Amino acid sequence: MSFDFVLFGGTGDLSWRKLMPALFQAHRHGHLHADGRILAVARDEQTDEQYREWLRPKLQEADTAKRPTDEEYASFAQRLHYLRMDLAEPESYKRLKAWLAERSAETVLMYLATSPHLFPQVCQQLAAQGLNNERVRVVLEKPLGHDLKSAQDINRAVRLAFREQQALRIDHYLGKPSVQNLMALRFGNVLFEPLWRRESIANIQITLAETLGVGTRGDFYDRTGALRDMIQNHALQLLTMIAMEPPSSNDADAVRDEKLKVLRSLKPYNEETVRSDVVRGQYRAGHIDGKPVQGYLDEAKVPAGSHTETFVALRTEVRNWRWAGVPFYLRTGKRLASRESQIVVNFRPMPHSIFSGPVQPNRLVIKLQPEDGLELHLMAVKGGASGSGAPSDALTPVFLDLDFDKVFPADRVGAYERLLLDALAGRLNLFVRSDEQEQAWRWVEPILHAWHDDPHGPRPYAAGSWGPAAASALVARDGVSWPQEW
Ligand code: BG6
Repeated sequence: MSFDFVLFGGTGDLSWRKLMPALFQAHRHGHLHADGRILAVARDEQTDEQYREWLRPKLQEADTAKRPTDEEYASFAQRLHYLRMDLAEPESYKRLKAWLAERSAETVLMYLATSPHLFPQVCQQLAAQGLNNERVRVVLEKPLGHDLKSAQDINRAVRLAFREQQALRIDHYLGKPSVQNLMALRFGNVLFEPLWRRESIANIQITLAETLGVGTRGDFYDRTGALRDMIQNHALQLLTMIAMEPPSSNDADAVRDEKLKVLRSLKPYNEETVRSDVVRGQYRAGHIDGKPVQGYLDEAKVPAGSHTETFVALRTEVRNWRWAGVPFYLRTGKRLASRESQIVVNFRPMPHSIFSGPVQPNRLVIKLQPEDGLELHLMAVKGGASGSGAPSDALTPVFLDLDFDKVFPADRVGAYERLLLDALAGRLNLFVRSDEQEQAWRWVEPILHAWHDDPHGPRPYAAGSWGPAAASALVARDGVSWPQEW
């Protein structure tokens, strides 16, 4: 379908780091309709040509394989246009309307990569110009609010201008191929479903670990913190995909209804359980890959004495028949020992062993990044001799290892590329519905409140470690350890 892709915040970090590279890849892979224009919108005065020249070196900062050749850039640049807009000014929207009216694209995507406090205003102004008709969809980038009330305010304002089906809330984790494979693992295979329940599963651990610090985003991050930045959205979305009941179809609402039920079943926190079941940390100076790095409080634009958390580990439960009593542990942090995002499903121990020696429970490790794959931990007999020379029946842990990058070596579609293509095609499965998003806020709010009232602040941890010791103690209480302690 022919399209016009309007990118508000067209000169911002997100646009040149993620969105334009993703659009370029989609163009290069031949996934974009030939008749598709991209309009970058921002405050500065510049021409189409100047914007194209501004963007060119930025796309060269990508990994070698993703950099455009001169020829490729020239062909991509033909799609690129630029419009100066003052987002508070109705005149600007009239100019946008005139630009769009130069032709009649079948789909118009308004991508709001701006600060979220501008979302209500932009939606309202678009509606005032009739730029909310059925051809138009609006994409909202995170963070969508900083608590339940602000998220509801944004959603209410968006709803005044657009129907729910026209409003696409991005969580880029849902676009990752590994997360797609989580759906395939559960609902494209019969193998695990009979085991996917409290009778067979002891606990589930979700880790989203980064080695990066807050970089130049100190002021934004300090207002946000790891709970809002990673747990409220990415980690909870992963949890819903692990815990949801099989949807009746792959329709957006069938899937999102099931995810919402999981969010509604999460055990709510109170002041006491925040203290016992949630650990927050903040990095101090340390070493990453052998190089010294500074602590959070020394990062640019971070206020002295800040209590913002850069690490969270928590224990929760999904209170329904399938999962009652099974702990779900979520952990995320900046400046941790390695970049590693994964979900570990720890199965229950065998009820009785006929073998000599210890037997480890089975484990399924769903690797999200940097590798994208699955590891199934099993027990096997090596077939060697024991110390006395008699054949040994002792079991040894082994694992089946599936690397999707090897299985599917051809160019795989990245997270943003996938989501942008879905947004253009109007496929809503991988976008977060407002009720899901609000429910996620409802669940994290008691943690925010308890922290707000707690003078102690986050626990320090050295950059390059796995976070505060209290995170290990949190799982050790249930006789569990985090993967790096196995
Ligand atoms: C973003 C957060 O949503 O996700 C960042 O705002 C974080 O702080 C990033 O670094 C992590 O994404 P990824 O895809 O690199 O795991």
